[in-house]
Amino acid sequence: MTNATNQALECLLTRQQIQQRVNELGAEISRDFAGQRIMLVGVLKGAAIFVADLARAITVDCTFDFLAVSSYGMATSSSAVRLIKDVDEPIEDRNVILVEDILDTGRTLCYLKNMLLAQGPATLKIAAFLDKPERRLCHIQADYVGFTIPNRFVVGYGMDFAERYRNLPDICVMATDAPSDVWE
Ligand code: IMP
Ligand code: MG
Repeated sequence: MTNATNQALECLLTRQQIQQRVNELGAEISRDFAGQRIMLVGVLKGAAIFVADLARAITVDCTFDFLAVSSYGMATSSSAVRLIKDVDEPIEDRNVILVEDILDTGRTLCYLKNMLLAQGPATLKIAAFLDKPERRLCHIQADYVGFTIPNRFVVGYGMDFAERYRNLPDICVMATDAPSDVWE
């Protein structure tokens, strides 16, 4: 596959692999929360597609909501992450699973985890579809991880390069990795 500038997009994870793994994660979450209610909180926009699939793979009582953050380029601390849309429903006393497309430096999820914990959820877990542990700057781990991947810039399944490629059903690597200031 090539994009408009003829950069090759190499497939890293197929839609079949993605679907199978999301189903496994849904089953694992449903076992962990058997008989309980959970609230998925997705981080816009990247996690929207993962939330949609994960919610349908979960068999316990489950609601979902979204928040949005913006982060500044070249920033080196989580203070550079800013909330631009909060959840609609209170999370106090709820079993919350924060759902993110990819855990990279960890700044976004460190910031969001602390922010949500301050609101008194009954439990707070993190689900990240992808994990790039090589680039971690903040000490944080996800409780549920789809795939651990090498330090490559990926697009598809909700993830973008300059807002493009979110709709690719597979997860692809750009043959020429994106310049880091676009996504840091
Ligand atoms: P972190 O705060 O560095 O962990 O960044 C997480 C966010 O950076 C993700 O939610 C994505 O929006 C973005 N990101 C990190 N790596 C990639 C990538 O390989 N492709 C697309 N977006 C990425
Ligand atoms: Mg994101």
